[in-house]
Amino acid sequence: MADLKIKFCGKEFLNPTVLASGVLGVTASSWKNVAQNGAGGITTKSVWFSEHHGHPSPTIITTPHYMMNAMGLPDAGVEKARDEINVYLKAKPAPLIVSIVGGKIEEFVKIAEQIAQLDIDAIEVNISCPNVESEFGTPFACVAADAKTVTKKVKSAVKKINPNLPVIIKLSPNTEDIVNIANSCAEAGADGFCLINTLGPGLAINLETRIPILANKVGGISGPAIKPLAVKLVNDVYRATKLPIIGTGGVLTGEDALEMMMAGATLVGIGSAVYYRGIDCFRKIANEMNEWCDKNGVKSLTEIIGTVKR
Ligand code: DHB
Repeated sequence: MADLKIKFCGKEFLNPTVLASGVLGVTASSWKNVAQNGAGGITTKSVWFSEHHGHPSPTIITTPHYMMNAMGLPDAGVEKARDEINVYLKAKPAPLIVSIVGGKIEEFVKIAEQIAQLDIDAIEVNISCPNVESEFGTPFACVAADAKTVTKKVKSAVKKINPNLPVIIKLSPNTEDIVNIANSCAEAGADGFCLINTLGPGLAINLETRIPILANKVGGISGPAIKPLAVKLVNDVYRATKLPIIGTGGVLTGEDALEMMMAGATLVGIGSAVYYRGIDCFRKIANEMNEWCDKNGVKSLTEIIGTVKR
């Protein structure tokens, strides 16, 4: 048995699999269910300051090669999120990372101030949702100066409330230079990163009606097709910043997760796999990692992080 335990920003995770934001992550009972199915950690769906209505249905499509979604980040707001988080924290079965989202920098700060008072394990700042651009303009994750400002303001607000609470930034692949964005966030005090958010947006067309399948017309692409891009960008950001990373994008198997860690990820985000392999994909992926480690003489997963010979 290899040691799958991993420390991320000073917090211990029983294994590197982490529920990605936006997937099953709205209520305490679903977070507990995910933990019971073997997840090393949980990321909540992105929390807005006040209630935010998402896009009309259909919001998601699944194919053998990719998924595409345009939920429009529906959420009940920070007050309701705090209630659910407090229920989960009563018997926290796995570390909890709370994803936050806002239209303006001040909004990110206000939510972070509310969330940082709770006994959570990290705040993930979602500056990279591709589906609310029409409401709020270019995502902060696509402009280095914006990414830097939001990081700086959130980090300084959180530091005043809980200096030990890591602030990690969710990066977008939809930018010309993700390393420049990551470096700007690192300079502004980011403790780590989660990448990649969904790719695109993309378009899928119904051949009968010739209209786009998603009600929002376009959506963010996830699933197996985006994994090689995620692995490459995780490695780019790892080499540039050396900060801890939650590597996310198309991981379905233990071997995919190991590949992400060799690229530089400390934890591995699991999203689409829930659809492809079922809710117990966390346990399956961790077991597959364990088997590979046993066969290959790896005693602890910490040995493999960033070991790609590129
Ligand atoms: C949505 C949000 C995201 O951050 C993303 O990558 C894809 C979709 C959404 O809720 O629409």
